Amino acid sequence: MNFLDLVKARYSVRSYEQRAIEADKLQYVMECTRLAPSAVNLQPWKFYIVSNPDDCAKMRQCYHRDWFGEAPMYIIACSNHDESWKRRRSEPKDHADIDISIAVEHLCLAAAEVGLGTCWVCNFDVELCRELFGIAAPYEPAVLIPIGYPATSEVPEKTRKPIDEVFVSL
Ligand SMILES: Cc1cc2nc3c(=O)[nH]c(=O)nc-3n(C[C@H](O)[C@H](O)[C@H](O)COP(=O)(O)O)c2cc1C
Repeated sequence: MNFLDLVKARYSVRSYEQRAIEADKLQYVMECTRLAPSAVNLQPWKFYIVSNPDDCAKMRQCYHRDWFGEAPMYIIACSNHDESWKRRRSEPKDHADIDISIAVEHLCLAAAEVGLGTCWVCNFDVELCRELFGIAAPYEPAVLIPIGYPATSEVPEKTRKPIDEVFVSL
């Protein structure tokens, strides 16, 4: 699969089989995530794997959608704000969000390559997630990622802005 095919194969999967994920596939996805770039190579992140039934039930309290409850496994992608690079001058900025986003997309693309579905979920109850899983500052639960085999083989068409609207020659 070339990169464009992989990019098209990754989509927001909102219907999952209950089938467990093979250990070697999970390992591959974790390795691709680990190798993501980050500002000053600080790698300000931690990924919690949620797979036992009790923890999966807790996860489902953080985001109430029927489809979300179908996934056999979840990953909580957390930023570490003590380790992230902060630009101190020229519009100061914490780069934790940028770093975690790159790593999460590595994760989602790697999963797609091995036939697994994922979905970025940011519209969740962060405070409850912290409480249920004991995730305290400096860590911030940034993205929940359900992961599992898609229940359907249909891949939706991408609806995106055209290139000439997105890329502008200066
Ligand atoms: C930062 C971010 C947050 C998102 N949060 C949610 C979410 O809370 N719930 C959800 O169902 N989808 C969420 N999505 C998925 C987007 O809706 C989806 O990526 C977009 O519609 C494009 O569709 P595609 O992923 O199938 O290409 C999120 C995506 C991103 C990148």
